[in-house]
Amino acid sequence: MKFFIDTANVDEIREIASWGVLAGVTTNPSLVAKSGRKFEDVIKEITDIVDGAISGEVKATTSKAEDMVVEGREIAKIHKNMVVKIPMTDEGLKAIAVLSKEGIATNCTLIFTPLQALLAARAGATYVSPFLGRLDDVGTNGVDLIEDIVEVFEVHGIETEIIAASVRNNMHVIECAKAGADIATVPYSVFKSMLSHPLTDAGIKKFIADYENSVK
Ligand code: E4P
Repeated sequence: MKFFIDTANVDEIREIASWGVLAGVTTNPSLVAKSGRKFEDVIKEITDIVDGAISGEVKATTSKAEDMVVEGREIAKIHKNMVVKIPMTDEGLKAIAVLSKEGIATNCTLIFTPLQALLAARAGATYVSPFLGRLDDVGTNGVDLIEDIVEVFEVHGIETEIIAASVRNNMHVIECAKAGADIATVPYSVFKSMLSHPLTDAGIKKFIADYENSVK
């Protein structure tokens, strides 16, 4: 499983990219709003930091396929690594079909069922983004959704990549890796908590102390 970071905060992206673990970035209108910057400015800066798939979402107010196609083409022009993120609706599927025929990479977002994922894949989506945390929030096991989509895609030899999204904690990450998600898009705070363990910290402290006390 590869890692994307789920943020529009360039400081967070820079730090996690420096670990050498990032294969891409996902953003959404809420994350861009949180960054307090203009969409184009922040996206351009991200493309300078990470050489991998960068998802930029069509505006939340854009609901017609034709509008999403026009906006998607503009997003794709920003950089060769851009992926146009499009919501899972009938109009969204139409837009994915048009853009994918033009060779523009797409990420179908707000996926909550395996059938939505299958429809998006058949429309030509490069990626699908099932949201596990938001399902957990309403009392439905999000990891089950990832497992179901992995199974359906494997059975039918579908190459659309599965991005486990709405990841909230370390257990989500490990369960998605075990389920066979291609990618997990992980928030900065979860990357930080994946990194550390009290026994690692204690081990480092002891090695430093023993080194200081060793015969030199
Ligand atoms: C990423 O593609 C999604 O937009 C994001 O993971 C949603 O996460 P949230 O449910 O924590 O807002």
